[in-house]
Amino acid sequence: MRELRVDDAADLAFVRAMMERTPSVGFPSWFTLEQLVERQREMVAALLDRLATRRLGATTCGALAPRPARDEPVAEVVLVAESDAATRAGFAWVRTVIDHFGRVPVAHIEDLATAPGHEGQGIGAALVQQAEAWARAHRLAGLTLNVWPENTRARALYERSGLAPEMLRMRKVL
Ligand SMILES: CC(C)(COP(=O)(O)OP(=O)(O)OC[C@H]1O[C@@H](n2cnc3c(N)ncnc32)[C@H](O)[C@@H]1OP(=O)(O)O)[C@@H](O)C(=O)NCCC(=O)NCCS
Repeated sequence: MRELRVDDAADLAFVRAMMERTPSVGFPSWFTLEQLVERQREMVAALLDRLATRRLGATTCGALAPRPARDEPVAEVVLVAESDAATRAGFAWVRTVIDHFGRVPVAHIEDLATAPGHEGQGIGAALVQQAEAWARAHRLAGLTLNVWPENTRARALYERSGLAPEMLRMRKVL
């Protein structure tokens, strides 16, 4: 398990592909696959831009990354899991957010996926475990994430990893 290498084109392509994998598992009928994929593409583009900007800021002029506004994340990381053969096998994007009710920073898993062909080998569990280790290293008070109710496999993984459901968001289409 390692962090994403922002200047490695293959790493970036892997993360982009993984972000498009998440909607493939089932989602509420009022969204379309195209909508979700488009949103994922926007999110990953913004993420990779941010990471590149921070790296450039640190190496070219010694400047620190721009200070986040009050409710913006104070830190984020993209983890890349590799199989024995050093093949990219999964990824997780984790960042700090301010917990709405607790009003303290917590680590939030924005997205997590195992590459096709590598499922059922403990990669997903290892990614959640590493996200938790990152959260503990940052002295964060919790680990949160959102998951579609339809995604039973991911939900089972998260529950096995010690996360419990917190809130169920409901909708009526008008
Ligand atoms: C959900 C997801 C991340 C699970 O990843 P994974 O790498 O298969 O997860 P794990 O291997 O840790 O656990 C999955 C299964 O493998 C089993 N397993 C765990 N370690 C194992 C090992 N060493 N050898 C064999 N099987 C193992 C687990 O018991 C579990 O059983 P299940 O099939 O009944 O669920 C993966 O299916 C995925 O990428 N889905 C699409 C993207 C997605 O939905 N992401 C979540 C967004 S919220």
